[in-house]
Amino acid sequence: MQAQVVALRDVTPTVREFELRPDAGGLAAAPYEPGAHLQVQVMTAQGRLQTRSYSLVGEGDGQCWRIAVKRLDDGRGGSLAMWRLAVGDRLQVSAPQNHFPLDLSAPGYLLVAGGIGITPLVLMAQRLGAHARRSGVPVKMLYGARHAGEFGYLDHLREALGDGVAAHEGSAPIDFAAAIAALPPGGQLYTCGPVPMLEAVKRAWHAAGRPLADLRFETFGSSGRLATQSFEVRIPRHDLAITVPADCTLLEALDAAGVQTLWDCKRGECGLCAMDVLAVDGEIDHRDVFLSDHEKQSTTRICACVSRAVGTLTLDSAYRADS
Ligand code: FES
Repeated sequence: MQAQVVALRDVTPTVREFELRPDAGGLAAAPYEPGAHLQVQVMTAQGRLQTRSYSLVGEGDGQCWRIAVKRLDDGRGGSLAMWRLAVGDRLQVSAPQNHFPLDLSAPGYLLVAGGIGITPLVLMAQRLGAHARRSGVPVKMLYGARHAGEFGYLDHLREALGDGVAAHEGSAPIDFAAAIAALPPGGQLYTCGPVPMLEAVKRAWHAAGRPLADLRFETFGSSGRLATQSFEVRIPRHDLAITVPADCTLLEALDAAGVQTLWDCKRGECGLCAMDVLAVDGEIDHRDVFLSDHEKQSTTRICACVSRAVGTLTLDSAYRADS
């Protein structure tokens, strides 16, 4: 559906909030639950129409949806396209969708956010704060950002959870193990942030012997180690050589070249798009949370939906079941 930008607000110097009012024949904005996101179509500077997912931030008012976008100067161009929008501009959006739902039946909660990963957790904190006041269930939150000026929505979080929110500024590692140890048995952890932070949370959760089902996470596909740039791909099976432009994913480039691929989440979580890597002349920038550390180091597979490279990759397109 079409939506109009009705307000803009800079939450931090690099995070801008967009208030979008959907046309939908005059209907109010559909309600949504914590963890929901919108799909938004953006036109990159190269003139390519692309789809991005942005979490809905905070409680809705029944009229508008709010999303927040971090400006990434070395990203794939989606955030810069969003930042070029002005009040009154129109864009194509989906209805709210949710792959990161909040389960209110747990005996305790830990929320962990890193940077712009705070966006889906704002409404979770608000709902859990209200839930905690009714039921007494403990709720804690860890929120990390590189600089003090990058803590968006901290006032909302403190209003919801009081001193249950701990803000961590800088690059010093956060003690996830201690926070997980304080969570009651059966407690759940919800996290969203850059891949290295998610990997650290996963390791601490695993080391604590907690059930994997109680760790819920969402990724965003822009948090690589290396700046986003074009790279080359060869696929001997199809006698094919293509360039993956900076504003395209590997999956999109393969699709455009007519190579059949498997995919589902397109967020680096399910592993369905993983392809065999035959050779690397350069470096792979793994941006998924599906492959193990060992698989990433051995550079034998790559998740085509989010991961990228610098240089040239030689891949095999055929799907192989895990042995
Ligand atoms: S489609 Fe799910 S990890 Fe790529």
